[in-house]
Amino acid sequence: APTLKQAAQARGVLIGAAVNSALFDDLDPDYADTVAREFGVVVLENGMKWKTLQGTQGEFVYGLADATVAWAQQRGLAVRGHTLIWHDSAPAWLYQFKTAPEVQAAMKSHITNVVTHFGSRVKYWDVVNEVVSDAPGHPLRANSPFAAAGPDYIDQAFRWAHAANPQARLYYNDYNTEGLNGKSDAVYALVKGLLARGVPIHGVGFQTHVSSAFSVKDSGMLANLKRFRDLGLDIQMTEVDVTLPASGATPANLARQAQVYRDLVGACLSVKCSAFVTWGVNDPSSWRAGGKPLLFDDLYAKKPAYGAVIGAL
Ligand code: XIL
Repeated sequence: APTLKQAAQARGVLIGAAVNSALFDDLDPDYADTVAREFGVVVLENGMKWKTLQGTQGEFVYGLADATVAWAQQRGLAVRGHTLIWHDSAPAWLYQFKTAPEVQAAMKSHITNVVTHFGSRVKYWDVVNEVVSDAPGHPLRANSPFAAAGPDYIDQAFRWAHAANPQARLYYNDYNTEGLNGKSDAVYALVKGLLARGVPIHGVGFQTHVSSAFSVKDSGMLANLKRFRDLGLDIQMTEVDVTLPASGATPANLARQAQVYRDLVGACLSVKCSAFVTWGVNDPSSWRAGGKPLLFDDLYAKKPAYGAVIGAL
């Protein structure tokens, strides 16, 4: 049978999955086998976050991330870097800094060190993740150590990443921005401003953590993706998972989940997206395992959603 990777390659899109250190667990060889066989790009689920790589100021710990990158490269898989700036993965030590010059110095040091370290091994970076808040009017997030970094820190983050690797493709990444809504309007305004100021941003990542009740059509997802595309930006679906309702893995629920995956792939292809990445491999490996949101089940069998994705490619 053809694999997801083969089908995606024929359409000129990368299909990927987030992976974690279970990849190296000999007790679960099916995990690594499935990733190597089915996917063309991997993202380290937590392995390249700030507190993982620089949990102590000035001490960069690259061993596990390097091993995962080497594992992927040996099998011909590309790597998406995730993520340089995210409030949720900021290390405790960053909170000691209260002034813009201090926070920006720490950001510049982190971004430069990490992007330089991985160099050409990481082709895509989520430079800034989730800075647009869910508060009314969607201002930039206040509960973040980066809030102290001054008004131009987002521009600067992209500029520092670009300086460290001019070949890397740089993304702004966020959730609940798939459809036309107030939050996607705010992200649209943000990236439009970045472009107007000549900031090196190349694309937008749409996380796409949704449920099987999500409707590509009713959410206005096509029109939304298209407006970003019309800015000249690349589109990627970066963290796709589609949770089942509480009634669980009934045939009807699995079919509805498959339909959402089919529509998401269709939307992605319709804007010539460059990647479609699921946030995990098999259901138990998901951060939302209760919702059984992925393409492979507990035993690595292909779910109806798998068939829907390969059929839509
Ligand atoms: C999640 C991981 O899946 C969890 O294992 C971790 O505990 C928290 O982060 N948006 C993102 C991802 O950009 O980095 C998050 O990943 C999920 C939401």
